[in-house]
Amino acid sequence: MSFNHLSSSLASLRERHHFRQTRFVEGGNNTSLIFDNKQFINFSSNDYLGLATDPDVIKASNEATTAYGVGSGGSSLVTGHSARHEYLQSLICDVTQMESCLLFTSGFSANSGVISTLLSEHDLLIQDKLNHASLMDAGIHSNATMKRFMHNDMARLAQLLEKSEQTDNRLVVTEGVFSMDGDSGDLHGINQLQQQHKSWLMVDDAHGFGINGDGRGSCYEADVKPNLLMATFGKAIGTSGAFVAASCETVDYLTNFCRHYIYSTALPMPIVAATIKSIELSQQQWRREKLNERIIHFREKAAQQSLTLMPSNSAIQPVIIGDSSDVLKVSQYLKEHGFWVSAIRPPTVPQNTARLRVTLSANHQLTDIDNLIIHLVRGLELLAKGDL
Ligand SMILES: Cc1ncc(COP(=O)(O)O)c(C=O)c1O
Repeated sequence: MSFNHLSSSLASLRERHHFRQTRFVEGGNNTSLIFDNKQFINFSSNDYLGLATDPDVIKASNEATTAYGVGSGGSSLVTGHSARHEYLQSLICDVTQMESCLLFTSGFSANSGVISTLLSEHDLLIQDKLNHASLMDAGIHSNATMKRFMHNDMARLAQLLEKSEQTDNRLVVTEGVFSMDGDSGDLHGINQLQQQHKSWLMVDDAHGFGINGDGRGSCYEADVKPNLLMATFGKAIGTSGAFVAASCETVDYLTNFCRHYIYSTALPMPIVAATIKSIELSQQQWRREKLNERIIHFREKAAQQSLTLMPSNSAIQPVIIGDSSDVLKVSQYLKEHGFWVSAIRPPTVPQNTARLRVTLSANHQLTDIDNLIIHLVRGLELLAKGDL
């Protein structure tokens, strides 16, 4: 019978505790969510600055809906691109200090589109091993050769660049803030090597834009000018969609050749208006100060309880557990005590590094963080005793 692999693959996932299900929650973009009529403190959202539910952002979105309707009505090159879209692009250029930029409906689409459009058969794509799935898939589906280096391993990256001097087009890709580990890409190291070897640099700053560099992003903070800068609006900006910023020539090229851009409906007006407002609000320093206060508080409290954390100063604070079934048990224990902390398992993270990915928001109460730590520590103790 055809398509037998569907049931066999699903059975194998279940056996390895890797089976995933979409659940519906209310308030997933807030610090408190409802699931199955129960309330949880949400430590799994990427809305780091609490902008997804900010009254001014909601107002901007509502006003745009009233004035312009909902959908954009077409792809960007046909009728989907308005003066608002144009303004959003110029705002992003202003904030990131990049020459030009292009809007996409998602970060996944932006990464796929850029890599498949800019690289072809004889080219080389070099990626940090921990780069996001959208970047890995882009490499797998592109005609270029893909090589990966161990996370932030500059010696290996140097080797890969030295060995490929004959290749005309080489693109090194890293993240500003790594989505599952929360640490930063070695932007200085990569920038130095990339300049020395005359390759191009692309930075996916999904988790740094709006946060690092006074909100201008990780590249601005590191004083690094990448050839391509991608960031999504679905994290600290609290809306959805993405941009790719680059030189005017590169953006012209993408506008003409990137099929993900050309053949896709442009961002809807309410999202564009909300994103503009949100980027403006994200420039207010107090929001980041509030978030940082919570990050420091979480790390200090964890240290007091001898809870081992990753070397992350970002809003992403993973607690590595290792085994997939164990991480599910601790996540379930936390749910029973009112905390929503997602269990992240392979293939999203490397084998034997299943983890609880705790994410912090400027809107979390400090007492919620204290209580989370208490229950995390208790849950891990029970797991160690075999009592979960
Ligand atoms: C590092 C990184 N890049 C790209 C994406 C994809 O962005 P989007 O959710 O807008 O498709 C994500 C989000 O899941 C991400 O974490």
